[in-house]
Amino acid sequence: MKVNGQHYHTIWVKEGDDSIVQTIDQRVLPHQFEIVDLKTSDDAVHAIKDMMVRGAPLIGVTAAYGMYLAGLGNENLQEAAQKLNASRPTAVNLSWAVNAQLAAVQGLSDRGAVIAKLLENAHRIRTEDIEISKQIGEHGLALIEAMSQYKSNETVNILTHCNAGWLATIDWGTATSPIYHAFDKGISVHVWVDETRPRNQGANLTAFEFNQHGVPHTVISDNTGGHLMQHGMVDMAIVGTDRTTIHGDVANKIGTYLKALAAYDNNIPFYVAVPSTTIDWHIKDGLNEIPIEKRSEDEVKYIQGKADNGQLMKVLLTPETSNALNYGFDVTPARLVTGLITERGICNASEEGILQLFPEKR
Ligand code: MRU
Repeated sequence: MKVNGQHYHTIWVKEGDDSIVQTIDQRVLPHQFEIVDLKTSDDAVHAIKDMMVRGAPLIGVTAAYGMYLAGLGNENLQEAAQKLNASRPTAVNLSWAVNAQLAAVQGLSDRGAVIAKLLENAHRIRTEDIEISKQIGEHGLALIEAMSQYKSNETVNILTHCNAGWLATIDWGTATSPIYHAFDKGISVHVWVDETRPRNQGANLTAFEFNQHGVPHTVISDNTGGHLMQHGMVDMAIVGTDRTTIHGDVANKIGTYLKALAAYDNNIPFYVAVPSTTIDWHIKDGLNEIPIEKRSEDEVKYIQGKADNGQLMKVLLTPETSNALNYGFDVTPARLVTGLITERGICNASEEGILQLFPEKR
């Protein structure tokens, strides 16, 4: 997707120097656009942990390049894998990508061959992610098109939470991909963008993306969605996922569950865009089996924005000594999900539905 008219992916190997992986520092968007160099696997760990990069698919691809950087630095790959795996717990793409890298080099002993394989495999995972996001967009487009026809071409109002946009993937995004496809096709769409406290991925990142692409959108506080739904101002919700169980339970950014409850109560379709890399084929019960990340209380107590002098500034919201609690994700049970939009098509949020699209996992 484009930033100031120039096409970007979220992560790439530096032109002319393949010892450096580059990415966009998402901590300072939308006010600053900064590219950072990752030179070691520790840089990749730091980028993931500190949320310079975030979003399940991008976390996975960054970890894949982190393994390549570990190979370049002649590190013990098992140890690098452990460090990367421990950097964030909820998105299953992370361990999926790290394991794919370990499997790719199994049996190789020549150092040059190992490095070449790690790079080739990271590139492959990245390319596949772009294709998956594009396909999710093509399938999800049909849902928006149908809603537009049902509304006699009136604007389709879509609510989304957090950022499951191109910044969270390599290109297109997952939840946003159907929206970009619909917008590019000339369908009238408008997006309600949940600000997504505490880190404001909606207000900072999703709004940034839509601004850049020209997609009509309105940022709302996280508490507004239910009211909009009660007043017929939301036609559908589309969100992303960090981990989806084989039963169709979905872990996504904290607050997703409340939006799903409100959508259910108001008969509004609630879709989850699910790349297969985000399905955890080993678990069934999302509530009990998905590890939920707990982050620093400072993310709740402080907020960052642009001050009048143009500088980024962090300010304290709460009394200095108040405690805060910061769970990063919650689980939306399958029964509240209308459908899963995958790269192979749309299915019910159920084991049967998922396995119909992915029969090789039976
Ligand atoms: O904490 P984050 O910003 O990494 O959380 C991101 C989300 O919850 C996204 O919705 C999810 O990763 C899907 S990204 C395509």
